[in-house]
Amino acid sequence: MEVTRQATGLGGRVTGVDLGAPMDDAAFAEIHKAFLDNSVLIFPEQEITPEQHIAFTRRFGDLEIHVMSQFLLPDHPEVLVLSNDKKPNGDAVGIEDAGRYWHSDLSYLEKPSMASLLYAIEVPPSRGDTMFASQYAAFDALSDDRKEELSKLRAVHHFGSRWNKETGKAGVRPKMSAEELAKTPPVDHPIVRTHPETGKKTIYVGGFCTGVVGMEEEEGAAFVDELSDYASSEPFRYLHQWNAGDLVMWDNRCAMHCASDYDPQYRRHMNRTTLKGDAPF
Ligand code: SIN
Repeated sequence: MEVTRQATGLGGRVTGVDLGAPMDDAAFAEIHKAFLDNSVLIFPEQEITPEQHIAFTRRFGDLEIHVMSQFLLPDHPEVLVLSNDKKPNGDAVGIEDAGRYWHSDLSYLEKPSMASLLYAIEVPPSRGDTMFASQYAAFDALSDDRKEELSKLRAVHHFGSRWNKETGKAGVRPKMSAEELAKTPPVDHPIVRTHPETGKKTIYVGGFCTGVVGMEEEEGAAFVDELSDYASSEPFRYLHQWNAGDLVMWDNRCAMHCASDYDPQYRRHMNRTTLKGDAPF
């Protein structure tokens, strides 16, 4: 196994490993260390079934079942489908416009996701890329005064607000049901969190944020938008251009990501597993 670090320090390319094959503890420990060191790992040229995808994910911890149940793989609810493909009756098989805004997966839960593993089955010939931004680097680049100011604040995160905003945009999303909305009430998390495994500090905001605890609604919304723009800006980024067979794993505790659009005449079909995480502190 070889791990090649990308120039930006975010994203390690891991070759010489077959994620579908049994993996001993030593090999897993190497991957786990590379994950903590690089925040994003790219495993090219994989050929894995949903069962193997789930089994590899399970080495890291427990899996989440996404709230949008109509987009889960029928026999494997641990797998969320991101796709522009349609069923014979015209219904979408997956979320067609997933994540086209900077965010950290499931930040709207009391215990947001630790990590996500996205496996590309079919990709368009161009675009449809995914960008990642290091929230360690974004935090480290702040002045001491700004670090101190942000350390005292908590942001509000809400799934339904973002989902409904996206519904209005591309017109491909169904409205959330009352039951789905009830499962994801607003929560708040510290804007500066400490990574529970590395002990390093990171910024924790993004597209599910609607405001800041203790600020007026508009002021808080503008504050989190501006901070998310800064934290996802060019110097902190890695752009991943997909090939079919890539599995990309990212650490939601210290990296934000954003999907880009593509020509909808081409198919983009991916399976995602998502790991449960801890309450940010
Ligand atoms: C996501 O998981 O937020 C979507 C990523 C992508 O489709 O590139």
